[in-house]
Order: sequence, then C-alpha cells, then structure tokens
Amino acid sequence: MNSLEIINLNVYYGNRHVIKGINLKIPQKVVFAIIGPSGSGKSTLLRAINRLIELDEDAKVEGDVRLFKKSIYEMDPREVRRRIGMVFQQPNPFPHMSIYDNVALGPRLNKLVRNKEELDYLVEWALKKAALWDEVKDRLGDLASKLSGGQQQRLCIARALALKPDVLLLDEPTSALDPVSTAKIENLLLELKKSYTVVIVTHRIQQAARIGDYTAFLLDGKLVEVGDTAQIFVNPKDRRTEAYITGRFG
Ligand SMILES: Nc1ncnc2c1ncn2[C@@H]1O[C@H](COP(=O)(O)OP(=O)(O)OP(=O)(O)O)[C@@H](O)[C@H]1O
Ligand SMILES: [Mg+2]
Repeated sequence: MNSLEIINLNVYYGNRHVIKGINLKIPQKVVFAIIGPSGSGKSTLLRAINRLIELDEDAKVEGDVRLFKKSIYEMDPREVRRRIGMVFQQPNPFPHMSIYDNVALGPRLNKLVRNKEELDYLVEWALKKAALWDEVKDRLGDLASKLSGGQQQRLCIARALALKPDVLLLDEPTSALDPVSTAKIENLLLELKKSYTVVIVTHRIQQAARIGDYTAFLLDGKLVEVGDTAQIFVNPKDRRTEAYITGRFG
C-alpha cells in the first residue's frame, strides 16, 4: 500500500506557478529521495505534503494529497503535521529548552501521554530511535543549544518521532553537517524506514544514490522522472535526468 499519494498537485505563489501538475505515489517503509536543482520546487512540494504551506498567505494549492488513502484536506491540519513530521535543513530545536523538553513538548501538547512516567518512557524511546540517547542520557536537562549540529538534527528527528508519525519528511537534513554526522543521519534513516516512510529532499545526488529506494527528479516544478534509484542512476529514461545526475546540467 502507498503511504502517500500526490494527485495532480499545483502550487502557486501569487501568480507564479511553481509546482506543476505533480502525480506521485510513495510506498510505505521506504526511503524516497527527491532531487533537483535549486528553485525546482522541492521544498514547496514537501511543505504542500504536510500543509505547512498554508501558513504562507501567498501560496495557493490545487489537487490532493492522500495519506493512507485519506485526503489531508479532510483532516485537521495539526493532525496532518503530527502524522507527517518534518525536519529542516538548519537544525531548529527550541534552543532555550532542555533536551528533554524539546522531545516532551509535542506529546504533552497533543496529550499523547497520561503521566510523567509515560512521558519519560516516550522521550527515551524517541531519543533511542533517533540514535541520540547514548550521547545525551546523562544530560537531559542541558539546553538543546549546547548540542553539536549533528546532535541537534537528531534531536529534531526525535522530536518528530515522539509524535508517532507515519511519514517523516526531511528537507536537506544534512547539508549543514560534517561527513561523520551526515553518515550517522543516513544510517539512522535506513534504520527508520523499517517503521516509517522517509521522504528526503537532497542536493547531494550521491546521497540519493546511497540511501534512496526510489528517486524522483524535479525540474522547474515538474516531475521529470521517478523510479527505482538504481534505474534512475544507471539507466535514466529522460535525457534531462541523465544530464543532471552526471553533472552536465545547464
Ligand atoms: N514563500 C515563497 N513565496 C514566493 N515564492 C517562493 C516562496 N518559496 C519559494 N518560492 C519560489 O518558488 C520556487 C521553488 O522554491 P523551492 O524553495 O520550493 O525550491 P527548492 O527546489 O527547494 O530550492 P533549493 O534547492 O534552493 O532549496 C522558487 O522559484 C522560489 O523562489
Ligand atoms: Mg529547498
């Protein structure tokens, strides 16, 4: 079964048409990579998938996105954003909150737990899932801003996981990180896909090749090609895809 179905999606900012009739099916429990040049609409597409785009007054969306066959427009937007979590390029933990509170805030607000014991358990579970627990278990009360960039990004992943999402969207999650932190996050995503659908936007073509089960190539708001990552990289059907992945673009 597909976890996400994007149906004839169009997005406009004012008069500018930036997502142009995209249709896409994203299966469950895979890493789905989205690649494409700067300005091609990758971030816009992600923000349309979890209705974050509605916070932008200029944006207009047409078409539909279905999460397990149910339209996200028939769901409460907060519910959509809980079930479709998002992680951004710059790690954005709440800097003046502790490591613990960064993870605990969402479950508290969403009333996912009944007492402190359940909350402690959920925070530990999410930090373990995000491969951060061992590094922070003795300093849960420290400010999140004291963590390294890579740790902050894993904290943001833990924060999303604590809401028990179905899908995790990541927008260039490693572009601010060094190679060691990047490898940690890539390994983490490969682990997470056993339980979640992971959709990652990446500038780094090699990253899509390393961890993507499927890869979609976006150009000027259109979906040029989508397929198994191996097929896209070894045997692209569209010459524009080939030009992009071989670095001969433009
Ligand atoms: N809030 C906004 N208001 C108006 N135009 C926007 C807004 N956000 C993005 N755009 C425009 O929409 C187009 C797609 O932008 P988007 O950020 O989705 O691209 P992207 O593929 O994520 O690029 P990058 O790789 O640089 O992050 C661009 O032309 C951009 O200038
Ligand atoms: Mg972007």
